[in-house]
Amino acid sequence: MKITVVGAGKYGSTTVQRLAEAKIADEVVMTDIVEGLPQGLALDMMQSRSIEGFETRITGTNSYEDTAGSDVCVVTAGLPRKPGMSRMDLLEVNAKIIRDVATKFAAGSPNAVVIVVSNPLDEMTYLFREATGFPAERVMGQAGMLDTARFKHFVAEDLGVSPLEVEAITLGSHGETMVPVPSQVRVAGKPLTVVADSATIEKLVQKTRDGGAEIVGLLKTGSAYYAPSSAAAAMVEAIAGDTNEVMPVCAWMTGQYGISDVYLGAPAKLGRRGVEEVVELPLDDAEITALKAAAESVRSKCADLANLQG
Ligand code: NAI
Ligand code: 2OP
Repeated sequence: MKITVVGAGKYGSTTVQRLAEAKIADEVVMTDIVEGLPQGLALDMMQSRSIEGFETRITGTNSYEDTAGSDVCVVTAGLPRKPGMSRMDLLEVNAKIIRDVATKFAAGSPNAVVIVVSNPLDEMTYLFREATGFPAERVMGQAGMLDTARFKHFVAEDLGVSPLEVEAITLGSHGETMVPVPSQVRVAGKPLTVVADSATIEKLVQKTRDGGAEIVGLLKTGSAYYAPSSAAAAMVEAIAGDTNEVMPVCAWMTGQYGISDVYLGAPAKLGRRGVEEVVELPLDDAEITALKAAAESVRSKCADLANLQG
């Protein structure tokens, strides 16, 4: 199993570390445009192998030749947000980066399954697929795993339970039209709608939508990467292990929830072919309406991307 992580910044390097320590690959390749950065980080991580007890080789490189023949790739290349910026403010600059990365990576790894994380997430996932012509099931985005983990965190903190006792899911886009789904939340087996009042639920939903911005505001330079790298690594593990685990991911919609021909956050089974199936949950009418609004918002931003290209 060969895994490539493009971008050796905060998100990329922590993802490489998590994947190496998970012992699921023969080699993890980390590539970046900055000379010496991936090489130095790879050497540092390689020197942790005897302490951490893993044998995975970590290769740092500035050349796509070293990524050839990858089975799975995580794309983290691109600028992160600064305080006050929305993810959408990154559209133009990151689009140029993603087009460049997609073309170069795909040439040597035409059969890889790709997870895009660069922001704005839904649009960059769409763009990567457009630029490579890969089958849609082999290109997905990471956002729902992270947003769901944040939702679980806020519910657990507010209700004083372990995050491991919270079941939850978020759908929609990784942005203003994120759709945390209260009807699906269980706290120690009980519906959230029974153990919390509607004002509390609305507060928790809003905290989840603002979860990324809250961390950007505190860090002042850069955005979150510990929970984000956990999210991407969990997706890679499901794909590499062909587990068919259902995870919330940014997937190409083909009629599920009445939505087609757009990338959108939805629950999906992940395996060696990528998205094996988009799963339909029994959502209430308000949640379906919110999901459709998210789909239209992503669709219109993808149309903006086409204009940027022209
Ligand atoms: P960072 O600034 O620490 O790292 C970005 C890296 O990309 C830098 O090392 C840079 O040299 C590299 N890069 C730029 N152009 C490149 C190219 N053409 N080829 C290869 N590498 C290139 O940023 P960080 O924190 O790692 O975030 C990366 C991206 O992930 C950002 O767009 C951020 O908004 C996004 N993100 C997405 C999340 C999600 O849930 N989808 C969560 C957190 C961050
Ligand atoms: C996050 O949600 C900024 O997308 C990034 O942390």
